[in-house]
Amino acid sequence: MNDVLVNQKINERILLINKALDQSLPTTDHTPAIIHEAMRYSVNAGGKRLRPLLVLASAEAVGGDYLKAIQAACAIELIHTYSLIHDDLPSMDDDDYRRGKPTSHKVYGESIAILAGDALLTLAFELLTEVEKSANLSGATIAKIIREIACAAGSRGMIGGQVMDILSENKVVDEHTLKYIHSHKTGALFKASVRIGALIGGASETELKNLTEFAEKFGVAFQITDDILDVEGDSEKLGKTVGSDERKKKSTYPSLFGLEQSKILAAEAVDGALTSLNSFGEKADILKFFTSHLLNRTK
Ligand code: IPE
Ligand code: IPE
Ligand code: MG
Ligand code: MG
Ligand code: MG
Repeated sequence: MNDVLVNQKINERILLINKALDQSLPTTDHTPAIIHEAMRYSVNAGGKRLRPLLVLASAEAVGGDYLKAIQAACAIELIHTYSLIHDDLPSMDDDDYRRGKPTSHKVYGESIAILAGDALLTLAFELLTEVEKSANLSGATIAKIIREIACAAGSRGMIGGQVMDILSENKVVDEHTLKYIHSHKTGALFKASVRIGALIGGASETELKNLTEFAEKFGVAFQITDDILDVEGDSEKLGKTVGSDERKKKSTYPSLFGLEQSKILAAEAVDGALTSLNSFGEKADILKFFTSHLLNRTK
């Protein structure tokens, strides 16, 4: 499939994801209106929708019907959006812009921002109970999917990474710790996205193993490029303020390895990720597209 066609598919799917997200979020008619407004504000602010797109693309890569994975894809995006709201809080990265708009706490205040994050996380699990309806999966598979996401989002996954990220401010950490931070704060949710897409799509053990390897490399490559963009990216395009890591003295790939070496390490991770997709052929064209464009992404 050529890039034009892949882009077209991606744009169609973003519309589908956005529509499903809109339907899953309580409207502001529900009391208290402010919390539903805040939840909608951050979800609708934009964002690349990369994780939900990877859920759908992974279902497709194993020959499944991506439409069955929409609910799970939305659940992942809700968790991701919650993580961004909390990541930006004054007590965390203290950032004022996200997805091209003032951050949640800037608009609604810290209390509502924290609660909007909590509510999005909880809503994600409510949504996951509905996966069965559309996907026709067994109770055991549904439980497996929910456990996968819960573990990825929790203290052994994303939260663990965020904790180490915060504890590593103002320090020079070793490579092992930096890899832990990246594979957990960012990698865990990417891995869960790919694995649940694959599970919904009916992956074999081998397919699941290969896609897991792919996702691990993709997640690390993605966070290395996020660190690089924080140094040399364009705030306008990114929709968030660059230089945030330097200001907070974060442990990042550029701070430990320098920009040039970080780019080499990102390229190695991308190569590894592409190799893990070798056995999937054309069915993995969308996964391949996202991977091969990671190194030159500007947002
Ligand atoms: C930002 O993720 C947070 C990280 C894990 C680096 P994205 O760059 O995917 O953010 P959105 O969803 O497009 O806003
Ligand atoms: C955020 O990492 C990871 C999570 C939100 C879990 P960063 O702090 O690097 O993300 P940005 O740069 O603010 O988007
Ligand atoms: Mg952070
Ligand atoms: Mg941040
Ligand atoms: Mg960052």
